Order: sequence, then C-alpha cells, then structure tokens
Amino acid sequence: MEPILQARKVTKKFAGLTAVNTVDLDVYAGEIVGLIGPNGAGKTTFFNTITGFYKCDGGSITFDGKNITSRATYQNCKAGMARTFQIVQPFGQMTSLENVMIGAFNRISSYREAERVAAQWIDFVGMSGKTYDRIASLNIGDQRKLEMARALATGPKLLLLDEVMAGLTPAEIDGVIDLIRKIKESGITVLMIEHIMKALMQLSDRVVVLDHGEKIAEGSPEEIADNERVIESYLGSAYKKK
Ligand SMILES: Nc1ncnc2c1ncn2[C@@H]1O[C@H](COP(=O)(O)OP(=O)(O)OP(=O)(O)O)[C@@H](O)[C@H]1O
Ligand SMILES: [Mg+2]
Repeated sequence: MEPILQARKVTKKFAGLTAVNTVDLDVYAGEIVGLIGPNGAGKTTFFNTITGFYKCDGGSITFDGKNITSRATYQNCKAGMARTFQIVQPFGQMTSLENVMIGAFNRISSYREAERVAAQWIDFVGMSGKTYDRIASLNIGDQRKLEMARALATGPKLLLLDEVMAGLTPAEIDGVIDLIRKIKESGITVLMIEHIMKALMQLSDRVVVLDHGEKIAEGSPEEIADNERVIESYLGSAYKKK
C-alpha cells in the first residue's frame, strides 16, 4: 500500500538554522501517527512545510499519490489536507458556526449547505451548545475543538493536529482523546504533534521523534518509550518499561 503522505528528505532552513533536516516520513491511510520531540525540534515547521505554508529548501512531498512539493496551502486543502494551529487562529469576531462554515466552503458553494455541514461538525466535536457564540468569547478548550471542526469541515483525508491538547484541563484532554478516536473511526488519517504523552501514547499507531530538525526514532509507542536516545533527548525515564 502506498502511503497517503510521503515526505522524502524534507528540509527547511531559516537563515543559519536548519529547522527541518532531511526528514523522511510515511503516513498510511487510516493511521494515527504521533510526532514528538523537544521544544524547537522542528515539529511545527515540518507541518508548515508539508502544508505548503513554507517552501521546502530540499526534498519532496507526495500526498494522495501526487507530488505536492511546491503546492500552495489552499491547493493542498482542496486536495484533502487540513490542519489546526499550535496557537489557535479563529476568526474572533465571527460565531462558531461562521468559523466552521469557512472550512465547509472549501468544498461547498451553497450557503445553506455549508451551514448544514458546519452544524454537523460542530455537533461532532460536542460544541452545538455554542453554535452562535462569538468565538473570541469562548475558552481555549472550546476554541481548539472548533478549530478541529473547521478543519474537518474542509473534508480532509489527512488531518494535521498541532498540540490540540495544550492548555486543556485533564477532563478536556480526555474529551479530545475520544474525539480524535472518533475522527480516526470516521476514516480520516491523523498526523498529530503532542507534548501530552499519556494521550499521544494511547492514540498513536506509530510515533516519529524529531530532535534538532532530524528524525531520531520511529516505531510503536512501546518501542519509542523504550528508546534510549528518545529517553535522553525528550521523554526522560517516566515512560520506560519497568
Ligand atoms: N519563522 C521562523 N523564523 C526563524 N526561525 C524559526 C521560525 N519558525 C521556527 N523557527 C525556529 O525553528 C526551530 C524549530 O521551531 P518549531 O516551531 O518548528 O519547533 P517545534 O518542534 O514545533 O517546538 P514546540 O514544541 O515548542 O512547538 C526553532 O529553533 C525555532 O526558533
Ligand atoms: Mg510547535
């Protein structure tokens, strides 16, 4: 089976800093792949490079069988790639519904239909009680769920989640874990960056580790938790098998 996303030697430099250094990554349809690594490892930059927000300085990216290396973000979105942002990027003065409708307009031109689809995704993320609230008035947990709904409303095959659990309470985190499981069950492939290991380890089919822009390990959550290099650079010993 061909991977839905294939990154080959992907490289992104900022002046003297190589933020992403010849990274290879395969994501297969139906998987949840976790992307971890210390602060500044290059995880978000890797997302920005895959989605076309940044142009690669080297390497190539294939998505759904097509070379997308120099494609723009909106083209990737049309092709079925959607993302959330580490720092939420809502349209603050608009309602939840309007925010999610913007996602829906990726595939739908009718206003009524976009409204219907957006309402469905708001319900899917458990936010229907706040459909008509101005999004800037909501707390961070609600804003993150609505950002997921906006991404889902674009109709993605692959969803990239950048720390959707950051700043949430333990109860909210459990809710988002269930939500990500439901996204997978609905047939959407997920590539997620997360520092909350308890969540990442239970959700991921596979985990990829970046450090200083380079991929230093890849494997099942168990293999990663037991990998000396990962323990040393990032995890500490808390996750090592006793
Ligand atoms: N637009 C930019 N211009 C210059 N340097 C940048 C830019 N974006 C990121 N960097 C640098 O690239 C490196 C990787 O940053 P990145 O945000 O990708 O890390 P990260 O793994 O997502 O970290 P975190 O876990 O803290 O979110 C860091 O050294 C960062 O300072
Ligand atoms: Mg980041």
